[in-house]
Amino acid sequence: MTVWDAIRSGAERLAAAGVESSRLESEWLLAHVLGVPRLRLVLEAGRAVTEGEARAFSDLVASRATRRPLQHLVGSVSFCGFEFAVNPSVLIPRPETELLAERAWLFLLVPPQPWTHAPVVLDFGTGSGCLAVTLAVKCPAAVVHAVDISPDALAVARGNAARHGVDGRVSFHLGDGFAALPEDVRFDLLVGNPPYIPSGEIAGLQPEVRDHDPRLALDGGADGLDFYRRIAHEAPAWLRPEARVMLEFGDGQGGALRALFSGGRWRCEGIFPDDSGRERILIAAVARA
Ligand SMILES: C[S@@+](CC[C@H](N)C(=O)[O-])C[C@H]1O[C@@H](n2cnc3c(N)ncnc32)[C@H](O)[C@@H]1O
Repeated sequence: MTVWDAIRSGAERLAAAGVESSRLESEWLLAHVLGVPRLRLVLEAGRAVTEGEARAFSDLVASRATRRPLQHLVGSVSFCGFEFAVNPSVLIPRPETELLAERAWLFLLVPPQPWTHAPVVLDFGTGSGCLAVTLAVKCPAAVVHAVDISPDALAVARGNAARHGVDGRVSFHLGDGFAALPEDVRFDLLVGNPPYIPSGEIAGLQPEVRDHDPRLALDGGADGLDFYRRIAHEAPAWLRPEARVMLEFGDGQGGALRALFSGGRWRCEGIFPDDSGRERILIAAVARA
């Protein structure tokens, strides 16, 4: 069997199992087994696959055909150009969240931010640590805190911080939102991608998400907005005067987010779309008295 034969047979098995982008995923799995970059496969299309490699590839394809996520099978995912370990304890970081990371590091790095102190960042619901670690790497002056209610997720996040050399600069806190934080810390930036799926919609999600992302990372309560209400209510006490809150949210939630973070204590600075044009990111600040 050649590389080309393996890719084709893997793609056929994955397509039959209902996996979208079956050809691409077959290539990713084979590249993982062969230990080469995916694009290298084109150059090696005629090379023979050993029996051991063919068996390992076939096992991975069989697992993927049960709709286990590709990222769990290869053990990591690329986020903002950095490799993050993932396992079933954490949400697999999504491309949309890279846009949130980018907005956040621009806020931290690009003038006219008048930082007279090291900016302090909170990642609310850190999961794999993708936001906290990326911001710590991109913004060496920042002091980063990350909170999660899942000890297993925090273990993954800590590992990712070490992997990228920022474990000394990210403080991880285990517990329920703000209640887990040291009382005296105040933030210049709160980023988060809280659980936002309405509880009743979880059963209808794709198997990769429904059966393999942790429920704790998905379930946003009856209308999906529980965590946004909590943040709108509790965050002002934790923010410095010029702070920003940057939150990712789900399809169709933009209107509710705008309402929650406007008027009274909040000023909504904008709702921004993802690459498919869907409203995805809220930026808000505490209103001046
Ligand atoms: C949607 S995931 C986001 C993970 C990561 N920030 C990302 O964007 O890939 C939400 C995270 O919030 C955490 N979480 C859920 N309830 C929480 C709570 N009450 N306090 C702190 N974290 C919580 C979950 O364990 C999960 O890791």
